[in-house]
Amino acid sequence: MDALVKELNQHSYNYYVLAMPTIADFTFDQKLEELNQLEQTYPELADPNSPTQKVGGEITKTFTTVKHKWPMLSLGNTYNEQDLRDFDERVKKSIGEDFEYVCELKFDGLSISLTYEDQKLVRAVTRGDGTKGDDVTTNVKTIHTIPHRLKESDVPPLFEIRGEIFMHRAAFEKLNKDREELGEIQYANPRNFAAGTVKMQDSREVARRPLDCFLYSLNTDKNYFKTHWESLQTLKKWGFNVCEHTKLSNNIEDVLLFIHHWENERFKLSYDIDGIVIKVNSYAQQQELGFTAKSPRWAISYKYKAQEVETILEKVSYQVGRTGAVTPVANLKPVLLAGTTVKRATLHNANEIERLNLHEGDSVFVEKGGEIIPKIINVNLSKREPGAVKIIYPLVCPECGTALVRKDGEVAYYCPNDEACPPQIVGKIQHFISRKAMNIDGLGDETIETFYQRGLVRHISDLYTLHEKADELKTLDRFGERSIENMLRGIELSKQMPFEKVLFGLGIRYVGETVARKLAFGAKTIDKLATATLEELTGLDEIGQRIAESVIEYFSKEEHLHQISLLKSYGLQFEAQESEITLQSDKLTGKTFVISGVFENYSREELKDIIESNGGKILSGISAKLNYLVAGDNMGPSKLEKAKKLNVPLISQDDLLELLK
Ligand code: IVH
Repeated sequence: MDALVKELNQHSYNYYVLAMPTIADFTFDQKLEELNQLEQTYPELADPNSPTQKVGGEITKTFTTVKHKWPMLSLGNTYNEQDLRDFDERVKKSIGEDFEYVCELKFDGLSISLTYEDQKLVRAVTRGDGTKGDDVTTNVKTIHTIPHRLKESDVPPLFEIRGEIFMHRAAFEKLNKDREELGEIQYANPRNFAAGTVKMQDSREVARRPLDCFLYSLNTDKNYFKTHWESLQTLKKWGFNVCEHTKLSNNIEDVLLFIHHWENERFKLSYDIDGIVIKVNSYAQQQELGFTAKSPRWAISYKYKAQEVETILEKVSYQVGRTGAVTPVANLKPVLLAGTTVKRATLHNANEIERLNLHEGDSVFVEKGGEIIPKIINVNLSKREPGAVKIIYPLVCPECGTALVRKDGEVAYYCPNDEACPPQIVGKIQHFISRKAMNIDGLGDETIETFYQRGLVRHISDLYTLHEKADELKTLDRFGERSIENMLRGIELSKQMPFEKVLFGLGIRYVGETVARKLAFGAKTIDKLATATLEELTGLDEIGQRIAESVIEYFSKEEHLHQISLLKSYGLQFEAQESEITLQSDKLTGKTFVISGVFENYSREELKDIIESNGGKILSGISAKLNYLVAGDNMGPSKLEKAKKLNVPLISQDDLLELLK
């Protein structure tokens, strides 16, 4: 029992505080249930602080702690039909036969409690330990589907509304793909990512990450509604994002149909769900049923089992990316899982191999939850052959034999031989020609691979001398005159690509598209960039220590400087053409603004950025032509007077954000 308490506490900490769980929820629940059973059998041995007595996690130190007006409880979990029928029986015993259930999807994110006062969002608090949570208002305000101000006037003067913050799968996959391109470690799943994001210190970074939120319950002092269903419909009318797949059911059979329907359909949703929640509809009946210490007696969740199968680990192979990061991949005996044949699973990094203590030929459990890429959950130790060989992450690069290195604070191992390690060279050239970089028509990844094998390209700069090798190109399979012409034209045209694209194409570690733009427009020329000091680099907009160090390291290599001078001589662009205008939208185009006063959630500089990046213009003074005066607290009286005199509309920070919706 002690061991279970210890283990579960550690997992809770990983889940709630670090937002980095290391076991599947199902396994956690199983262990919790095991402890629960033991405590029932040996109550005298039960620890009063056992995780079975707690709702959830701890509180992160860096945010203000806020006490919930209504505690945020958790739900009882069920995993099978019988448990659900038992729940239904308990409900019937207490309130009779005459009731309805509301069936909802169980969104896989993190719960949030929003407080509205006088139609305005005043606070957003995480669940925390159920009694107190973190005040994350500033971050939550960046979520577009959460209204800051309600238009309807018939809302209660004070209410709390609860829901789940999550990230759509497509947005998450794109993000991970971008990270992969930068040679960075990928995030495990949308839930952890959303949880990590909500707890970030910099709300500007939060704003860049596309979070969403579904709302599913309302708390008020007085009873405004008779049923949960009615309140959900009204929430929708007030402008809240309520999931359209919520359904009213008359009995448990109907609930089971709903559950079975979503068991397979859930994979077609754009977001992850991990189960279904059912709630007794009538508030009066909910009150009659009441609560246990941890959860309501009028609601329960049915959790889908993450689809899991057992198969054999045939071997672990190692992929070397263009940045040299060496990623282990599990090659599995093919097995059917959630409708697709799985042959490979991610192992992320060396730590993961160590955590699983993998041995060759192990029988492993592979899980595919909402996530697309399957992963190994654990090993079936009872099937391990005696004398099985432990899998050891290699010390040298599997492609070129160079000793691998690991940087402080990073989990990935790298092959440092970026000048001669074949997959790194090919990967770098492939990156250079890719759509987001130089976007060279008539050239593809496979062609680069072939050119490399034939010794036609060794460096990016070799692309620009390919026209001298036209005769040799003609000897290649599937390479006709037309396609050669096409390719050479594409290469020639790429010389016009702007500096920021060239810079991104060079593939400097941690320099993604956005960072390349910031560096290009910040430094203006490659020569200035190449000689910039750490202070100069970190002084640029959005450039941190890690990126700055990576840039300095890149330009410290003779070979890189040589390549750049060759590319220069071929006529590529190494100077920024104009000042940076990257518009997020043109919603404010043609509109002028003056910002004055102090604001609750943003600095004036941040508001200026928001306006300009959406096409608006900042003016220095108030005139009759001005469209809006964005007014904060403690604004100078003379400005206020002038604005009033000239009939310039005064708007708040929230009104400004409304304009962007
Ligand atoms: S109702 C009294 N409805 O599941 C419980 N919760 O295990 C109120 N969740 O903390 C929660 N979808 O984070 C409710 N449609 C839904 C939900 C939902 C996801 C989460 C929520 C809650 C946890 C409980």
